[in-house]
Amino acid sequence: MNANPDRSHVKVAVVGLGAIGQEHVDIYRAAPEAELVAVVDPRADVREEVATRTGVAAYATLADLLAEGAADAISLCTPDHLHFEDATSIIAAGVHLLLEKPITTDPAEADALTQIAEASDVVVMPGHTLRFEPRYAAARQAVADGRLGQVQHGYLRRDNKVSVADRAAGRTSVAFFLGIHDIDALQWITDQQVTEVQALATGATERTGQQAMAVLGTLRLADGAVVQIESAWNLPEDYPTDLDAAFRLVGNEAALSVHSFDAGMHVAGGGFTLPMTAGASLYGAAQGPLALELGTFLRCCLDDAVPPVTMRQAASAVKVVIALEEAVASGLTVAVAPVAAAGAGA
Ligand SMILES: NC(=O)c1ccc[n+]([C@@H]2O[C@H](COP(=O)([O-])OP(=O)(O)OC[C@H]3O[C@@H](n4cnc5c(N)ncnc54)[C@H](O)[C@@H]3O)[C@@H](O)[C@H]2O)c1
Repeated sequence: MNANPDRSHVKVAVVGLGAIGQEHVDIYRAAPEAELVAVVDPRADVREEVATRTGVAAYATLADLLAEGAADAISLCTPDHLHFEDATSIIAAGVHLLLEKPITTDPAEADALTQIAEASDVVVMPGHTLRFEPRYAAARQAVADGRLGQVQHGYLRRDNKVSVADRAAGRTSVAFFLGIHDIDALQWITDQQVTEVQALATGATERTGQQAMAVLGTLRLADGAVVQIESAWNLPEDYPTDLDAAFRLVGNEAALSVHSFDAGMHVAGGGFTLPMTAGASLYGAAQGPLALELGTFLRCCLDDAVPPVTMRQAASAVKVVIALEEAVASGLTVAVAPVAAAGAGA
């Protein structure tokens, strides 16, 4: 593998320079463990602008980047439907991989990619950013400490503005874009799998007509608890915050909740906004959950360590979203398919 012959820093490339890929670029540039060496995007104007701004090489395709052999690690930030083939090529090239969520939207690909990653000797880490959100980590600790007693029910919400649906342009569903964050967090925090789901979707669709504006579902956890989930990308553009999210669990001894609506900063006058401050760089250093996620990935590459977010867990979240979408289509209660056992073959 190419992986880190010089163990002081990781030579990293970002593939896909859309909304999240550009954040990866900025974070790697500010990270002492990273040297950004290249960017990839088929849009010439975008890749040239980023390459000029950052002083790194630019390629039109992943194949061109891999042929050059200059990267120890890659952040793959392309649209969901490209993840499987590109992730497979990156792992086969012996390059460490940070794979944006969802790892794929196809259940067979989720199994196959999990097997490929587990059989490889590179770091493959799914980009489930809530794992690096201190409040969600504290929620997991509270459940693990038994503070809630027996978890009985809960509620998850993740709503974005309609411009996010416009950007996705029908290529992926709101459950795969937003809901999968909460599903992974739920399974991680409760240390339980979702076993069955029910769901309905809005008749209203985003501008391409291909994807519902909102999906509302009910998830059953292995021990019997029921959790409602709301995933939507129809908030108006003048809504005061980009993210209106909630995570609530109620047990027989206590209830916990996390709210991502008001981060404590208000700008009033000429409109009213609630800016999200978590991702902004501070004194030249990247901070916030995404920076912590990418920093953790870099440390795993340098130390040959197992990432705290596994492909098996990410594949499990994919299977829950697939079940939600089958429940919307059928109107039935749908059992969540298990992830194929390790070494079962794809
Ligand atoms: N972890 C998070 O919080 C988070 C947030 C947003 C998006 N995401 C995920 O990141 C991925 C990208 O989302 P986005 O919102 O940035 O999308 P986007 O549409 O803004 O950007 C996608 C980029 O990929 C480029 N691209 C298309 N085909 C390519 C190819 N073959 N090779 C290289 N680049 C290619 C496009 O030109 C575009 O620049 C999605 O899987 C999404 O779910 C994760």
